[in-house]
Amino acid sequence: MRKLISFDLQPGMVTAEPVFSHDGRQILIPAGSHLTEQAIRLIQNWDIAFIMIAETAEAELLTPPPAENDPVLEILPDTMAKKVINFTCNLEEALFNVTDLFESLRSGGSIETAACRQISSKIARHLVQPAEAINRLLFRITVNRDRDYLERHSVSVAVLSGMLASWMELAPAVVDEVVLAGLIHDIGKIRMPRSLIMDDSPTPERQEILRQHVLLAYELLKDVPGLPPNVLAAVTQHHEYRDGSGYPLALSGDGINQYARIVTVANRLCHIAEGPGGLNPFNIIEIVKGEMFTRLDPAVCDTFIRRINDYLMNNPVKLNDGRKAKVVFLPTINPTCPVLKAEDGQFIDLTKTRETSIVGLTF
Ligand SMILES: [Fe+2]
Repeated sequence: MRKLISFDLQPGMVTAEPVFSHDGRQILIPAGSHLTEQAIRLIQNWDIAFIMIAETAEAELLTPPPAENDPVLEILPDTMAKKVINFTCNLEEALFNVTDLFESLRSGGSIETAACRQISSKIARHLVQPAEAINRLLFRITVNRDRDYLERHSVSVAVLSGMLASWMELAPAVVDEVVLAGLIHDIGKIRMPRSLIMDDSPTPERQEILRQHVLLAYELLKDVPGLPPNVLAAVTQHHEYRDGSGYPLALSGDGINQYARIVTVANRLCHIAEGPGGLNPFNIIEIVKGEMFTRLDPAVCDTFIRRINDYLMNNPVKLNDGRKAKVVFLPTINPTCPVLKAEDGQFIDLTKTRETSIVGLTF
């Protein structure tokens, strides 16, 4: 085993010890990994100075294993790749911290505002960046109903809540609190069996039990010192809908707290993205438009639709036939069916073709 500076690494070398994140809490590359060019670039981008390398025969270095297949990182310029990597690392770190927090609560620990705030302020500082949140989170979300579903969902809703709040140009202190509200919006579910939370199509009876998470959250949070009242309101009202069809109090209209209205939209965006067709941004817009004058808050939805349209106008999309295309026109009447210009120069009017469709965003 020898210690090498990251700039001396070569493809084919094998890590003798795990490569940890700067705070030492996450394994970024496990021990025994064959380093590829891409992995070496990541290590250098992460500013990791030294790596412990296993003694490897020279011949093995000449025939490194094939590169890991991450087409996204392969085609990105280095500065953008670094941004994506930073976002991913910060997201994983947030997930790690939330898992820690929720585990301690599951085993009887008490909720401390400072501990929650520490995680949410990191999210607000490092993850509430609309471009990355849209690309890496909203349209690349892959939430399986695994054991850590609640933790992943909580971090996603926190990031998206912050993205919406900052798009609405709310004061930074308010954005911070909205992120905190997003982070703990489902905290009542830590008092429920994991099997119930991981069930993605619960029966009406189980659905009814799940609804109790809002009241459980109120019980958990009502006496927590220092918790901002708007955050408590957002947690207890994130299933209240503008048309009065929500629960637990069937509140309506402006009777619903503003933080709650933002977290509700973020929660909805997250659920749409987790569901079938969620990778198509226009599918998400269509669903949000359908609910913005019924269940969801129109001002929050309007901000989302306007800003996402601006974003989509400047970003390439991926088509179902494998081509890349740019959005060149969003019709006012039917903005979910834009006109596209494919990379081969062909113009595609989605209102007139059924064969071609958008399957996601790309770089
Ligand atoms: Fe919920």
